[in-house]
Amino acid sequence: MKLGIIGGTGALDMLETGHPEMIKSPFGPPSARPEPIRAGSQTNWFLARHGRPHRIPPHRINYRANIFCLKKLGVEGIVAINAVGGIHDDHQPGDLVLPDDLVDYTWGREHTFTDTGTAELRHVEFGRPFSGPLREIVLAAAGTSGEAIHDGGVYAATQGPRLESEAEVRRLMRDGCDLVGMTGMPEAGLAREAGLEYVSICVVANRAAGLEDQPVSIEDIHRVLAGSMERVGHVVKEILVSADR
Ligand code: HPA
Repeated sequence: MKLGIIGGTGALDMLETGHPEMIKSPFGPPSARPEPIRAGSQTNWFLARHGRPHRIPPHRINYRANIFCLKKLGVEGIVAINAVGGIHDDHQPGDLVLPDDLVDYTWGREHTFTDTGTAELRHVEFGRPFSGPLREIVLAAAGTSGEAIHDGGVYAATQGPRLESEAEVRRLMRDGCDLVGMTGMPEAGLAREAGLEYVSICVVANRAAGLEDQPVSIEDIHRVLAGSMERVGHVVKEILVSADR
């Protein structure tokens, strides 16, 4: 399976990549030019979600162009790397989590390819946003790489770029969410519309607002992410090897 890796905050230099490719999309430019990653017999692609340099805020990311360009490059599945705040007690800073469901709280983002009014109206099934063979590949690869990853959890996609208020986090808890981040949607939904498998490796950067005595520290978030990306890189390299078989 040919893969696209979408790297989020802190995940820019996880992999060795080749010369970026300029791909045109009808939705405008992607966040950055996709970069080839050679693994075994196939070429996979890396895309820097927030651009290179890291500058595009979550609500301004051209998710449609990003997914369109990866699809055009022949990618069949996407491994997204997402920084999150941990809500569930099991999800502590530095942990890796593979969510199995999500709730979308974002608004005002271009979130569908079914949007022209001229193309056929198409609804997609989305009961299990992160399912399929790619999920199994990721779990097996984490095992082989020796990096622990929590299997399952509900991802809350919030609008950002600010973090949440404490009351918002309490609401997310009541809604059954375990993790909170700003970029999982509409990315996962667009991947489904494009017929691509999609998984998200969430890197817990902090406990969500109100769950610690101290306010969330942005410096701590960047420190934790910087310290965790090497481990994410181990898992991703193992995924690329497995997907090549
Ligand atoms: N909330 C939303 N997004 C995040 C957080 C958070 O606490 N931490 C890292 N990304």
